[in-house]
Amino acid sequence: MADKRRFTLFADFIEASFPGVKAVFDVAGGQGKLNEVLTARGLSCVTFDRRVKHLPVTYAERELHLDEPCACDVIVGLHPDGATRVIVDYAATHGIPFAVVPCCSDNSMPYNPWMRHIAELGRAHGFDVWEATLPMEGRARVVAGRPKR
Ligand SMILES: C[S@@+](CC[C@H](N)C(=O)[O-])C[C@H]1O[C@@H](n2cnc3c(N)ncnc32)[C@H](O)[C@@H]1O
Repeated sequence: MADKRRFTLFADFIEASFPGVKAVFDVAGGQGKLNEVLTARGLSCVTFDRRVKHLPVTYAERELHLDEPCACDVIVGLHPDGATRVIVDYAATHGIPFAVVPCCSDNSMPYNPWMRHIAELGRAHGFDVWEATLPMEGRARVVAGRPKR
């Protein structure tokens, strides 16, 4: 069972790590709870997920693809499962920062190698990559990246 505090804790991380952020793409956002928290804090947020049932937040009922027009300052994913890599690839394509809290891999890779793989993918794209851990139970490690100047 994932920790219910994850939405506020990840929102804290996003605001602290990307000061001045105004617009966020939340990929694989499920019901849109992270969106709800960010919106309540005055940020603009669009959630991308295939789900039809969700909270009344700004929501794109589809997968994110690399050609989606970039209307955000940062792209994030909280336990984004099969969307983890596309978040990093999208950030690289559009020259914006990213932050993901990986959970399951998209190819049966175990958790620790998956974490290393995502960090290496960010570095291979030329990001300054760092890691953090949210103070919660379960899959709590963050991989984040900023384009190098
Ligand atoms: C474990 S849930 C996490 C949902 C939410 N972020 C949370 O923390 O509660 C994973 C979500 O990823 C979505 N998902 C998986 N692959 C996706 C993709 N390629 N594009 C968009 N959403 C995807 C699923 O529909 C599901 O809602």
